[in-house]
Amino acid sequence: MTRRIFSGMQPTGELHLGNYLGALRNWVALQKDYECLYCVVDLHALTLPQDPSRLARNTRETAAAYFAAGVDPKRCPVFAQSAVPEHAYLHWLLSNHTPLGWLNRMTQFKDKAAKNRDLELLGLYSYPVLMAADILVYKATHVPVGEDQKQHLELSRDVAGAFNRHYGVDYFPLPEPQILGEATRVMSLRDGARKMSKSDESDYSRINLTDDPDAIRRKIQKAKTDPHPISETLEDLAKRPEADNLVTLFAALEGKPKKDVLARHAGRNFSGFKKDFADLAVAVLSPLTAKMRDFMKDEAEIDRLMKEAAARARPLASRHVREVKDIIGLWT
Ligand code: TRP
Repeated sequence: MTRRIFSGMQPTGELHLGNYLGALRNWVALQKDYECLYCVVDLHALTLPQDPSRLARNTRETAAAYFAAGVDPKRCPVFAQSAVPEHAYLHWLLSNHTPLGWLNRMTQFKDKAAKNRDLELLGLYSYPVLMAADILVYKATHVPVGEDQKQHLELSRDVAGAFNRHYGVDYFPLPEPQILGEATRVMSLRDGARKMSKSDESDYSRINLTDDPDAIRRKIQKAKTDPHPISETLEDLAKRPEADNLVTLFAALEGKPKKDVLARHAGRNFSGFKKDFADLAVAVLSPLTAKMRDFMKDEAEIDRLMKEAAARARPLASRHVREVKDIIGLWT
């Protein structure tokens, strides 16, 4: 079977360091060995209220971040989910093989709905089924995601398996999560128990991919730590969430294992370490930010690339939907 990668991000405003280290950077590395499709999942974004005048712009900006990070549009189509209607179509077909009990277990739904009762909508509830459809509509075999998406991916596997069993076929592959690198869980710079998130009200909690060097330095300087020097061992570090997060980010930015970072920096104070960290973050992110700005100067070119990508992706999706309809006994 073809090894095929699918992944996506929501166009919900600014991307941050967690999106880059936990996902984007891995996507770029994978495009050499796999057939890849990278999507901006604008239909998923509708599970939160969106300003119509911002949504299309955010979608374009997210695509620009993919390109700036090094996704090569010649190798991998980068397209908007809403440009390939087969995602939503397969969502319906798969929803008939998704017991509510499975959805009730999804921690992300429970968290979001508990925080805001207005979000208790069918769309948010079936978010993971749409995610399964995104992946399965291309019969993708591998899905690079951050740790937080692991449960959704397990649901995708379960739904694929349920469909195959129901019809006695071996049609859908069971997609494998690929959780790569040191920074699979990037935490807030203000609170080591919370994820770095674009919805956090404090901008100091995250480093945005559009932050300039001054902002990056300021945020790192203010990042929460504890008064102790850097740990000697990973076991000790694991007991210090904020310290652990900074060391993890440093390792991921360097592309080295965490224990290498400890070997070099154990015993140092965080004030000195933060200076090195800021230099490293600026060195890695500045070229990316500059490229993103360049891409955004030519919106028409991004739109052209995305349109072309959708036209490339769609025939595969529509062939698979036709095959699935045939298995089910629908009119094709
Ligand atoms: N739920 C993912 C996130 O918030 C985004 C997503 C939607 C996705 N569909 C996907 C990721 C399919 C991987 C594969 O990060």
